[in-house]
Amino acid sequence: MKTGESWRVGVLFSQSGVTAAVEQTQLNATLLAIDEINAAGGVLGRAVEPVMYDPSSDPRQFRALAERLLVADRVRLLFGCYMSSTRKAVLPVVESHRGLLFYPTLYEGFEYSRHCIYSGAAPNQNALQLARYLLSTFGNRFFLVGSNYIYPYESNRLMTDFVMQGSGKVLDETYVPLLASPADFDKVIRRIKKTSPDVIFSTVVGAGTAMLYQACREAGFDPGKMPIASLTTSEAEVAAMSHEAAEGHITAAPFFETLSTASARKFVASFKAKFGTEAPVPAAAEAAYFQFHLAMRALARAGSDDPERVLVEVRDCEFDAPQGRVKIDPENNHAFLWPRIARLDARGKFQTVWNPGVRIKPDPYCVVQSLDDWAADDLPSVVR
Ligand code: ACM
Repeated sequence: MKTGESWRVGVLFSQSGVTAAVEQTQLNATLLAIDEINAAGGVLGRAVEPVMYDPSSDPRQFRALAERLLVADRVRLLFGCYMSSTRKAVLPVVESHRGLLFYPTLYEGFEYSRHCIYSGAAPNQNALQLARYLLSTFGNRFFLVGSNYIYPYESNRLMTDFVMQGSGKVLDETYVPLLASPADFDKVIRRIKKTSPDVIFSTVVGAGTAMLYQACREAGFDPGKMPIASLTTSEAEVAAMSHEAAEGHITAAPFFETLSTASARKFVASFKAKFGTEAPVPAAAEAAYFQFHLAMRALARAGSDDPERVLVEVRDCEFDAPQGRVKIDPENNHAFLWPRIARLDARGKFQTVWNPGVRIKPDPYCVVQSLDDWAADDLPSVVR
């Protein structure tokens, strides 16, 4: 490989702060992809070199460090962000410097920037399917609890629409601080007891997640009758809670560490060989991994890291990701993904309970807002 001529890319995932646990998995996955690419000879004979900072789960630091990467460090492609508040802080900087951000996290949708590639799930690729599963399995009386920022507000608004489509009702909706303490969940538990819902839909993120599950366990709630369902409770958050607190609860995501396909097993084995057998491998990490490979494939085709040229090449680009073959939709810069739903077992492992084996076209603005048609125009018929 040529030396002194590496492709320098910016990497912004938090190693401290409220969402450090899941962002560390996204950083690990990005570094794994970089190792694999460099071991195979780099891109067009040049090594890939990450320029990394720790933005501490803080939108202001994300914004300042994005500026530093694009201006002082002169990188043109950025990989990073978990919370939507941090993506929204970074994007104006990326847009004004004509860079390109690769964002590997599920989010609330209703956004498009031509300077962003969204590789995590949009609501028609996780929330719609989760709503339908919960309505048909547990009942239609929902309680919504979230962290106090944009993703939970918007995600709960959409979940309310879906529940109402299922002739259901949102009984109550409440928020805890992002930096929550166990006492914040005492109030939540009182409100759950008062309303007695069929489902608790949680948009709590980061360190508060384990507190919510523990509080529900201590309150004696039965997850078989009243599960917590979430899109943000992944292997990274489950690692911080007891198996007893986790058991029986439900998450929808395109990837789980326990998937049994050959490509998923290979990815998880490589990840654990590099970061340790206890290192969690959530969907957010899998998206960070495949988006990096997609980006480098596009860079190779473009022959340049000019964001405009990479953008042209990455649209319609396909990659055999651990979840299945993915591609970026040229209409909206989001990824075609494979929805799944899993339930936590007594060992704190996700076991798939619903896996239709279809790839869903992203519909970030929920143009098609139907519980029985999630694919905008990609599915030949309704999947049961
Ligand atoms: C999120 O804030 N997009 C999880």
